[in-house]
Amino acid sequence: MTVLVTGGAGYIGSHVARLLIERGSKVVVADDLSTGLEARVTAVEHVQLDLASADAVQQLRSIIKTHSIESVIHLAARKKVGESVALPEWYYQQNIGGLANLLEAMKAEGVDRLVFSSSAATYGMPDVAACREDMICQPINPYGETKLVGEWLARAAARAWGLRVVNLRYFNVAGAGWPDLADTAVANLIPIAFAALKAGKAPVVFGSDYPTADGSCVRDYVHVHDLADAHLSALDYLERDDRKFDTFNVGTGAGSSVFEVLAEIKRVTGIAFEEVVEPRRAGDPPSLCADVSRINEELGWHAKQGLAEIVESAWSAIN
Ligand code: WQD
Repeated sequence: MTVLVTGGAGYIGSHVARLLIERGSKVVVADDLSTGLEARVTAVEHVQLDLASADAVQQLRSIIKTHSIESVIHLAARKKVGESVALPEWYYQQNIGGLANLLEAMKAEGVDRLVFSSSAATYGMPDVAACREDMICQPINPYGETKLVGEWLARAAARAWGLRVVNLRYFNVAGAGWPDLADTAVANLIPIAFAALKAGKAPVVFGSDYPTADGSCVRDYVHVHDLADAHLSALDYLERDDRKFDTFNVGTGAGSSVFEVLAEIKRVTGIAFEEVVEPRRAGDPPSLCADVSRINEELGWHAKQGLAEIVESAWSAIN
């Protein structure tokens, strides 16, 4: 089976591509290398392509034909929340325009299986202990909106021409499945805390007065290798099940607070730092955790690794 992985030079996409290859699939990567790294995709065929560009449909059709693509895992997207607030038009053009081009090419070439990289950002500020896929989604920034609208666009294509799609709503992805595929972006809590320690500074906690057990924000951290594995489970599901449109949370079902993550970082690094508590960061939900019963039951997927493995693998990948 040949799978097209868009965004396959990125942190998550490169894990998906490598796991597919390891399990015997042929993989073609399409990535514009704007944030992805070419070094991550040496093992697979790579086409440099901006999915939202004017000639993307033609290029995608040619890739699909040349490589006899049978299914697509679509991760290529802009994903910086703050940037999306400043540049909403560009976020919609990139994330929705890119998906529309991809779907047009898939439809024209008769490729009907899609795994779409969605996000827990679709839920916004939920007032529940664990988010269920059938909850009403109220994203609070353009990034989250583009993920929700992307799900709707895929659903419309499912109704219109028989696309079969699985949306995976990622929670907080971290860790490294292979040291050379580590997250180099320094945009999330664990990489930011490591960068601070390497610079001899103390990690920062954004708010300790939330209505949570220890006052800091709680998130559902999922290991990137487990997340990659969920994409393979989703592809298998699309092969065996004829349902047209489905959405699954990808998390562990267990939350960790910022203080708990930092305690794990102290243990793993052996550095006895004192974290600095700063005011709350705008737009942070106090708690965002996944209800994982659907993905457990329907896809037979369970996270195998926890916070210890996440922090250990992320730290050893950069040392
Ligand atoms: C986690 C927690 C911070 C840094 C974001 C996007 C989301 C998704 C994943 C996808 C929060 C706290 C952080 C620090 C801290 N994006 N924190 N000190 O905000 O849950 O999710 O990334 O592509 O859409 O919003 O992740 O890692 O930024 O923060 O205390 O130095 O850590 O306030 O509670 P977040 P994060």
